[in-house]
Amino acid sequence: MSPESPRTNLEVVPDDEWGAAVGARLAERIAAQPGLRLCLPTGNTPVPAYRAFVKLGGRLDQTKLFLLDEFGLPGGHPARCDEMLQRSLLELATTAPAALHSIDVAADNVAAACRRYDDEVADGGLDLTVLGLGANGHLGLNEPGSAPDSPTRIVDLHAATVRNAAVYGEGAAPLWGVTLGMGPLLASRQIWLLVTGAGKAEILHRALTGPVGPEVPASYLQTHPDTVVLADHAAAASFG
Ligand code: PGA
Repeated sequence: MSPESPRTNLEVVPDDEWGAAVGARLAERIAAQPGLRLCLPTGNTPVPAYRAFVKLGGRLDQTKLFLLDEFGLPGGHPARCDEMLQRSLLELATTAPAALHSIDVAADNVAAACRRYDDEVADGGLDLTVLGLGANGHLGLNEPGSAPDSPTRIVDLHAATVRNAAVYGEGAAPLWGVTLGMGPLLASRQIWLLVTGAGKAEILHRALTGPVGPEVPASYLQTHPDTVVLADHAAAASFG
């Protein structure tokens, strides 16, 4: 990897301070804007930040939450994103969010549920979208091949995403999911990309220095006017 500069704002935090730093930043951001419309990810990356947020007494009662994506798994499955959000944040926080929007993957018409979600998001927009980075460069479940203006929709998951989902619970292997589309995601007024661990260093380097295009959906963040990448040293190793 060459020591090129990232084409987005990049803030690097020592590995063992990352959770506390990002959790505190989230608590401050939420406190600063009552009524914040906040889209949150699940997966392993945000867990230390959510833990720190809870420890700091971070409140959600003035915040309207939007869940970034969901796997096509039965309700209550431990690998579902709504279950992960409950376990890692909502069950632990002192206050419930003012609203919680998600896409119903059990709806009779999931495509219609996706369109409804886009309407809910568009009705005020998103103030802040927090994201994790997929090992294949995906954002939410916008897999490689996703267009920058793609709407919220049903997606087929790439093999790597299916394999990775097993770590979230009971060897889950969802073949499809739903995701906030790249279009509404990039329309978010502010974006934080959370990235930790040496395993993400190479894809982070590609996302922030490589060509912008559908091969690495995270590369679209180079075009967003208010994105910050909050990485630990391990993930940002290529930037020196
Ligand atoms: P992870 O997933 O945080 O569990 O690594 C990130 C993602 O796939 O978006």
